Amino acid sequence: MTDYDLSDQVVAITGASSGIGEATALACARAGAAVSLAARRAERIEVLAKRINDEGGRAIALPTDVGHRVQAAAFVERTQAELGRLDALVNNAGVMLLGPIDGAPIEEWQEMIHANVFGVLYCTHAAMPIMREQGSGHIVTVSSVAGRIARAGSGVYNLTKFGVGAFSESLRQEGAPLGIRVTLIEPGAVATELAEHNRPEIAEQIHKTFADVTLLEPDDIANAILYALGQPANVSVNEVLVRPSAQAR
Ligand SMILES: NC(=O)c1ccc[n+]([C@@H]2O[C@H](COP(=O)([O-])OP(=O)(O)OC[C@H]3O[C@@H](n4cnc5c(N)ncnc54)[C@H](OP(=O)(O)O)[C@@H]3O)[C@@H](O)[C@H]2O)c1
Repeated sequence: MTDYDLSDQVVAITGASSGIGEATALACARAGAAVSLAARRAERIEVLAKRINDEGGRAIALPTDVGHRVQAAAFVERTQAELGRLDALVNNAGVMLLGPIDGAPIEEWQEMIHANVFGVLYCTHAAMPIMREQGSGHIVTVSSVAGRIARAGSGVYNLTKFGVGAFSESLRQEGAPLGIRVTLIEPGAVATELAEHNRPEIAEQIHKTFADVTLLEPDDIANAILYALGQPANVSVNEVLVRPSAQAR
């Protein structure tokens, strides 16, 4: 058990096949929540769901591309249908493909906007009517320090993360009278697979930038998400920014 009690709650987590999403799924399940897991790599979320169920928790794996409108809606709706409610949606799925704007492969921009922007929009759109009907809910979106500070070589990733930050604040204001809480999580550098999807020379540059920094672990961000989810109903944690201690910017 953890400090927070999520028993009887249902939490839907996107990007649960690795990194922050996987850690968040485990943390929520260990706090007593039933969890639904979305990602494109079906086998990874099936193995995680089995692990949670074997530990005595409750988890379902729902292979999903969150940037695909129909799949995103099906993920959210099947969560409610199979687990009975939808107390929280954690919009965590994302990709970070860095490099200069000049000459960038446009497909990398499309992939980031697909997952980081449309994924958040489609899942949120599907969750809202369910939460409005319940009179309660919580939508957590994982942004980044890159949603606060723009850098050369990160233009479109910055665009997606600044964008979801603005969307999340607008959503918070609309959600407040409906009993829907909204939280934006802004991690600094975390040791996950995120950088590995870059072109090799870019991945190498990212590793060099953080060579002297002890990175955060996925659990550090899962703890921040659990903190937001575990508050009493009258407390809305709007924003959590967590950097490794040695990350200056
Ligand atoms: N690591 C960091 O330093 C850091 C810092 C700030 C913010 N973040 C944010 O944290 C979130 C999680 O990233 P991570 O660091 O945990 O990286 P990760 O280990 O690469 O995890 C990314 C997750 O997103 C999923 N995903 C990507 N595209 C998807 C799509 N179209 N549909 C469904 N799932 C998709 C991946 O699953 P599949 O490939 O199986 O679909 C994977 O589960 C991202 O939003 C990232 O921007 C990370």
